[in-house]
Amino acid sequence: MRTRISAIRIVLLAIILPGIASANAQLTTDFYIKSCPSVQSIVRNGMMVAVRNETRMAASILRLFFHDCFVQGCDASILLDDTSTMQGEKTAFPNANSVRGFEVVDAIKASVEQSCPGVVSCADILALAARDAVVLSGGPFWNVRLGRRDSLTASYSLANSNLPAPSEDIDTLISKFAAQGLSVSDLVTLSGAHTIGQSRCVNFRDRLYDYDGSAQPDSTLSAAYLAQLQNVCPSSGGDDNLAPLELTTPTRFDNIYYKNLLNGKGLLTSDQELFSSNQTSTVSVVQNYAASSRSFFTNFPTSMIAMGNISPLTGSNGEVRINCRVIN
Ligand code: HEM
Repeated sequence: MRTRISAIRIVLLAIILPGIASANAQLTTDFYIKSCPSVQSIVRNGMMVAVRNETRMAASILRLFFHDCFVQGCDASILLDDTSTMQGEKTAFPNANSVRGFEVVDAIKASVEQSCPGVVSCADILALAARDAVVLSGGPFWNVRLGRRDSLTASYSLANSNLPAPSEDIDTLISKFAAQGLSVSDLVTLSGAHTIGQSRCVNFRDRLYDYDGSAQPDSTLSAAYLAQLQNVCPSSGGDDNLAPLELTTPTRFDNIYYKNLLNGKGLLTSDQELFSSNQTSTVSVVQNYAASSRSFFTNFPTSMIAMGNISPLTGSNGEVRINCRVIN
């Protein structure tokens, strides 16, 4: 009798355990080594073409990955178009008229589908493309963990609530990152992505004319930088006028973003808060990166991997979309 119960137990465990293992499946760098060995070079080529056509695309793709990961995890939910029954993330406040690069992901996905149909998720393509964006801009390389599946849904409301806003103070930024399992140090490190790319005037106008209802500019802005920004961004109108997030080397991935923060030259409130809020935990990291490009280049990959690990979808909770804009 006892042997029979043990045998039943073993059979049951054999059925249940693999299920548990796949639900907790870890991402791995060699996930497509057999099923799609060319995926890395296809994505890299796609990104090279895109960045050659438009330098800013590196920044746009890097941001797209961030905005994907903070909403239901890195599951390509941001890539889904709205349907009659689902309002997706593209029209949420932080994304509308702002996130870009969808056509680039489509083109890369189409090339990947030609070589390995139905194998590589859109979420993994975005993770690889974001890494390549950094490398193509002169930043550090890292091996991307892969094996994510694509979501069956998107969330307009989570996109509005989870993504940080440019006007937010340090405590709010810290808590929005903590809600995703990311540390204070990850916040400072990942904000260094603002070493490349552009922002619209509407996202920093308040700092130039009427900060916090004071009818005065933000006092943490350097005077010369303030004058420069007022030229680009009038007190009314010109909402879509662009300024570089890092004014010194705006297309180069380097540590100058942090040096600029020390001099009152962060573009968004959320940038300058990392230094001017006098929060010791963030100020020390800013100072470290401003002094040491090597330290920033060592830690940026670690924080990107941590962000890329947010709630990966595995098993039947997700799928490999054929077209990144629609579920299969
Ligand atoms: C800490 C909180 C953050 C806030 C409040 C924030 C906010 C913003 C805003 C408002 C813009 C300009 C959008 C526009 O004007 O249309 C922007 C651009 C950008 N963000 Fe962030 N961001 C944050 C963190 C991050 C992170 C973690 C990354 C990536 C790891 C990132 C990457 C970028 C890039 C590369 C751009 C330029 C995009 C382009 O030129 O198309 N940001 N961000």
